[in-house]
Amino acid sequence: MDEADVDGDLVNILFTEQQILDRLGEMARDIEKDYEGEDLLIVGVLRGAVMVMADLARAFNRHVEMDWMAVSSYGSGTKSSGVVRILKDLDTDISGRHVLIVDEIIDTGLTLMWLTSNLNSRHPASVEICTLLRKPDAQKMNVDPKYVGWDIPNEFVVGYGLDYNEKYRNLRSVGTLAPHVYS
Ligand code: IMP
Ligand code: MG
Repeated sequence: MDEADVDGDLVNILFTEQQILDRLGEMARDIEKDYEGEDLLIVGVLRGAVMVMADLARAFNRHVEMDWMAVSSYGSGTKSSGVVRILKDLDTDISGRHVLIVDEIIDTGLTLMWLTSNLNSRHPASVEICTLLRKPDAQKMNVDPKYVGWDIPNEFVVGYGLDYNEKYRNLRSVGTLAPHVYS
């Protein structure tokens, strides 16, 4: 759906579908360069990273393997619960593999901090992070993503996989949710 379909729920559009696709294309070129000659497993963090995974994977001009993890760090609403647990683990043995975690947003960094150390304990060749968005002002944990689409202000955003109470994930663009929707 488009912004017209969620009329009044957004205060602004941060990134259009086309801007996102263009940026993911640039990121795919950087990633291809860095992993040249290596096999690469990209791991999407369900459910938010579905759109990023789909578009990033298709932007590559090379083979890439895909797997998925589901972790819970948020309850419902707009605040982190601080609790991380695995809801769905990888189907792939990552020992000796180059792993790139793909996520849609780094907020506090808690989820990816935890996920990175969890995956590192499985003896991979490497673990790096690729995120479409990052909120530097919200970050509490020291995570250092190798690939970042854009840094954004510390506001609650929806669309392109990002939800509020499981809604807005299928919005094509990314926008800032109007406070009246969640207050
Ligand atoms: P973190 O652990 O605080 O970095 O964030 C974990 C997860 O919270 C992200 O992967 C998103 O699924 C969700 N999240 C964080 N900020 C937002 C937002 O602004 N809108 C929607 N979901 C968010
Ligand atoms: Mg997520």
